[in-house]
Amino acid sequence: MSDNNEKKVHGIVAEYESVDSLLNACRRVRDAGYKKTDAYTPFPVHGIDKALGIKPTVLPWIVLGCGLTGTVTALVMQIWMNSIDYPYIISGKPYISLPAFIPVAFELTVLFSSFGAFFGMWALNGLPRLSNPLFTDPRFDRVTDDRFFLYVDASDDSYDEKAVREIYEQTGGEHINNVLNDDSSDKIPKPIFMAWGLVIAASVIPLLIVLKMRVTNSDQPRFHIFYDMDFSPAKDAQQGSTLFADGRAMRPDVPGTVARGDSNYDMNFMTGVEIDKLSATDAPRAERLVRLSNGPIGPQDENAAPAGEESDQGSDESNAASGETTKDTTPWLTSNPLGNSKEVLLQGEKYFGIYCSVCHGMNGGGNGLVNRRAQKILSQTWIPPSSLHQESLYSNQYPDGKLFSTISNGIRKMPGYAGQIKAEDRWAIVAYVRALQLSRNANIDWIPEEKRAEILETQESVQQKLLEEAKAEEQPQDAAAEK
Ligand code: HEC
Repeated sequence: MSDNNEKKVHGIVAEYESVDSLLNACRRVRDAGYKKTDAYTPFPVHGIDKALGIKPTVLPWIVLGCGLTGTVTALVMQIWMNSIDYPYIISGKPYISLPAFIPVAFELTVLFSSFGAFFGMWALNGLPRLSNPLFTDPRFDRVTDDRFFLYVDASDDSYDEKAVREIYEQTGGEHINNVLNDDSSDKIPKPIFMAWGLVIAASVIPLLIVLKMRVTNSDQPRFHIFYDMDFSPAKDAQQGSTLFADGRAMRPDVPGTVARGDSNYDMNFMTGVEIDKLSATDAPRAERLVRLSNGPIGPQDENAAPAGEESDQGSDESNAASGETTKDTTPWLTSNPLGNSKEVLLQGEKYFGIYCSVCHGMNGGGNGLVNRRAQKILSQTWIPPSSLHQESLYSNQYPDGKLFSTISNGIRKMPGYAGQIKAEDRWAIVAYVRALQLSRNANIDWIPEEKRAEILETQESVQQKLLEEAKAEEQPQDAAAEK
């Protein structure tokens, strides 16, 4: 190596055989006051930075700084976005809600910290460094295998080649060499350069295609990368379908099936009829009742006459009110499946008050508000709601199931309520109507003896009140009639 004197000398390197001799040499070099030094080992050696006098790295501080920057950035960004630039209340929180900002703040803290650690390490190590003059020493390759190297840089303030050599020799250093400048070409090899160029050129192509597509029209069908969702065979509610004979995509309920959630109701409960018995004698009607029970129904009610054919009262049960009793063979349920506990009656009272009282009156007498108003304005065509206290509507002539069916499907001029009142509440109304009917036929014997006097007293005062009310109601009507 002596003939290379013209070359610039970067420093001096020595090779060591063991960790101990290296550490010893390191301490000597450090104590001699050299700062621009480095040791190279095939594996990490504990304590070597101390032996070389290398100060702890400042990297943690860089990471801390970056992390705090991330936190502040995230908070400022969110405060600016959510409360200043576009004030927006989310989930009823205040505009500036720190707990809600934490997740983003946390993420940015982590992100900025890792950037700080990664790039900070590169910067502190002077990376990327594609070449090192040490590589010119042919022995240096063994640093990845079984040898330890110690290097002192020539640019060190107190550099003295002879002194360093001395230390190396005294500490067992072998192959002590000057590290000479590597004057091989520092240009990027042509093939790599060309490959880079190719990759960059190729990466622009997709962008160009997209740009071209954005500014030109095409009669080619759209290009689909993922077919599944774009060509889903699902149909919208009112679309036609060639799959079914009737051309409807939306399938009607299969008669006799029960919708999910209604599974705890049997069809007797839903129709008020012993449906199996009816199916045996009148299958179409049974089917119709089941179908109606599954959903809201329009004016074409099960029991109602077809529109415009009021004289056609052929159906069996429609004449009860008019007294012409054709025989009703429908197997109606004769008792209320809900029973008549206090809860059921209270529920029935509630729903009767909401849905029935407007026409039939709070007491079921047939004189609800709608009736009173209707008689004033269209007395000619108005068909008054029935009094629910007619004997023909009592349970011996008008079974519970039939009353349920009347509420559900309507009757003649009265609309059905299946679409508005749940089946359970309709049965509760049935129970309450029975209670109303019973109230007109109550016997004083049913009252415990000690309460009777009280009842009779209130009864008298109530009757008095009712009489007065009736008089007061009649008078304005008479006045109107006189006009
Ligand atoms: C919009 C007014 C109106 C409401 C609300 C109404 N009804 Fe009626 N209801 C009538 C009319 C009108 C009739 C008589 C129909 C006819 O004779 O054409 C009637 C008849 C009846 C009958 C006699 C059926 C028969 O076979 O003769 C019963 C029972 C009855 N309603 C119960 C109820 C119950 C229970 C409710 C509450 C769910 C209710 N109605 C809600 C107007 C109403």
